[in-house]
Amino acid sequence: MNKPITYAYLETTNYCNLQCSFCNREEVIGALQHMPLTKFKKMLENLKHHPIREAKLMGMGEPMLHPQFDEICKTFKEVFPKAFLIVATNCQYPIRPDSKMGKKFEECMKYIDLLYFSIDGYKDSYERDRAPAKWDKLMRFLEDFKPMERHGCRVTCNYVVNTDNIQDIQIIKDEIVDVYDLEELRLNIAQDWSEDKSMPGGYTLEQIDYLNKNWKNEIKGKSEWDFPDCFWVKEGIYTTVEGHVKMCCLNTGADPFGNLFDSASNLSSDRGAYRALARAVEDIRDIMVADTGGSDGVVGAIKDKVFGKSESKSPSGSSDLKRTLSNLNSAISQLPGKMQTAIGSMELTVKPAGSD
Ligand SMILES: C[S@@+](CC[C@H](N)C(=O)[O-])C[C@H]1O[C@@H](n2cnc3c(N)ncnc32)[C@H](O)[C@@H]1O
Ligand code: SF4
Repeated sequence: MNKPITYAYLETTNYCNLQCSFCNREEVIGALQHMPLTKFKKMLENLKHHPIREAKLMGMGEPMLHPQFDEICKTFKEVFPKAFLIVATNCQYPIRPDSKMGKKFEECMKYIDLLYFSIDGYKDSYERDRAPAKWDKLMRFLEDFKPMERHGCRVTCNYVVNTDNIQDIQIIKDEIVDVYDLEELRLNIAQDWSEDKSMPGGYTLEQIDYLNKNWKNEIKGKSEWDFPDCFWVKEGIYTTVEGHVKMCCLNTGADPFGNLFDSASNLSSDRGAYRALARAVEDIRDIMVADTGGSDGVVGAIKDKVFGKSESKSPSGSSDLKRTLSNLNSAISQLPGKMQTAIGSMELTVKPAGSD
């Protein structure tokens, strides 16, 4: 029995004004584009029978650069009035109250439930990791934001922690979160989203100790995340600005499973490629948990599990499923490694330098 989709992560633009050192956007995006409102509506039309409880309108780009982002948020809430809507923004654009951008920004807050201001590091380290961002520009943004009507939108600071900005956490709490009345400081340990796992790690024991002693409660992410905890394959959906459906927000470089503009009905069909894939991946999870491996590795084990040991046991009329599996086996076979980097866990992501 397929579970309905309850969590949606929808990218509506892949334009960005920054090149953050920890973000793999440039590795994974295609041609620059904003999703036309008509296509966004079509996409929601094709998703609306799913009981989406939480959604993020972001992806590999800066959402507020979409010229109609206020309309995007409004439309989303019209279709999913009960869904909790989250957006992250880099705050590197002017929002003077009388300007077009300022008005659009305030309008968006009518529909967004939780807005993350992505601010990591203070002055020099902020400018280094979020190049070509400027600290002064951030300050102007925050000054213009301060008197704005928030329309009930909760606003927090989302801080991606790396080994070179740990020392700035406290000052960001004092000078940004408290001064601009942000709801909380959320710390995210920088995750390795790069295709070649090339992001530098290497926290010292002192740094880990410092984080654990001072900021444990602010660090977000499940502390004992394990592969079976992943909900994406059963209940989540990630779509790119092109409408492509991907496994999750952490393997955006993988080939898509389908396109929500073209074949959205598949999402609700037992025989659809996406749900067939979800079933297959559930099977991988079972296999991984049981640690059965086998000489053909994960892909062979999936086939055994789905079709039985012998091909003659294949369910009749399962050609859709077979085709899906053969098309997507290579993506699936990459999944375990990818998922292991997809962790918000201190234990697994924050290793002392030289501990490996
Ligand atoms: C990809 S961005 C898109 C929205 C917007 N451009 C921004 O920066 O806020 C979404 C969130 O992911 C965070 N992020 C980017 N790369 C990350 C990484 N390697 N590990 C953890 N969080 C990351 C950003 O700081 C931001 O809060
Ligand atoms: S983290 Fe956000 S602002 Fe930075 S490059 Fe990625 S999408 Fe752009």
